Amino acid sequence: MSDPVPKAELHLHIEGTLEPELALDLAGRNGVALPYRSADELRAAYDFQDLQSFLDLYYGLMAVLRTERDFAELADAYLARAAAQGVRHAEIFFDPQAHTARGVPLATVMAGLGEALAAAPARHGVTTRLIMCFLRDEPAASALEAFEAARPWFGTLITGVGLDSAEVGHPPAGFREVYDRARAAGLRLVAHAGEEGPPEYVWQALDVLGVERVDHGIRSMEDPRLVERLVRDQVPLTVCPLSNVRLRCVDRLADHPLPRMMAAGLLVTVNSDDPSYFGGYAGDNFDALRDGLGLTGEELRLLAANSFRAAFLSDAERAAYL
Ligand code: ADE
Ligand code: ZN
Repeated sequence: MSDPVPKAELHLHIEGTLEPELALDLAGRNGVALPYRSADELRAAYDFQDLQSFLDLYYGLMAVLRTERDFAELADAYLARAAAQGVRHAEIFFDPQAHTARGVPLATVMAGLGEALAAAPARHGVTTRLIMCFLRDEPAASALEAFEAARPWFGTLITGVGLDSAEVGHPPAGFREVYDRARAAGLRLVAHAGEEGPPEYVWQALDVLGVERVDHGIRSMEDPRLVERLVRDQVPLTVCPLSNVRLRCVDRLADHPLPRMMAAGLLVTVNSDDPSYFGGYAGDNFDALRDGLGLTGEELRLLAANSFRAAFLSDAERAAYL
């Protein structure tokens, strides 16, 4: 990698940073049986047809994450890799329901992540925020339960809520109540929309949930009125190019809409999503845009500046990065 441009990463699932080597180590330490004998064998399984085929493996492999130490090591390993690729600020997603449903207490997850995030500025030169995501393919009542269980960490460790998992058939509108409660609690609001799902889901994320950023949003390009709205309000889109190729949301990197999105005046940022599974961390995504799409140094610097503009930072914090 060339000298990495300083950037913020705004779309990153901490569970998606679980590298095969760490997964096997944790499986051994925790006595969890996995159907893979080596890291290479596990890596060979990272061949996805769509979002669901990825999610099946992603949720399955979470079985190895059991203790506070596991979550701390997972997050610390991500922060080290991200820092090496120029990430100075990371807004990190996690999926509480995916852990509590397996019998791992929320307090265990929070203690482990909290330890790694607290150490990150001194250890890696990275500031962080933590965003809890609701699984949209679970009932809205489960999201409400997860939300209420997380209240003790609101405003301290947890600064926002998001919506992820299988998109098609699970429109944002079903989660209005939990987003209303999150807004009332002073949390920041984001949601995945327009990754595999239609532009209508992006409209719902904006108008029903009231999100401040849209995660992915690439299918917005199919609706000129939606593009106009996103440009007018400068709603940030956290785009993940390598993820979109690996999950076959686009056929090839050369077909990725990102250059058209920038040309339309959208506030686009570049992120890694689930870097262990999709072939690269934040800087690798920037490199792919340069090498595969021919983006110029100036365009890459604009994308990096956008990431700080779109981050949930105070004006004083932002000024220190821009
Ligand atoms: N959970 C982890 N990665 C995701 C993605 N790309 N889309 C939806 N949910 C996810
Ligand atoms: Zn995502």
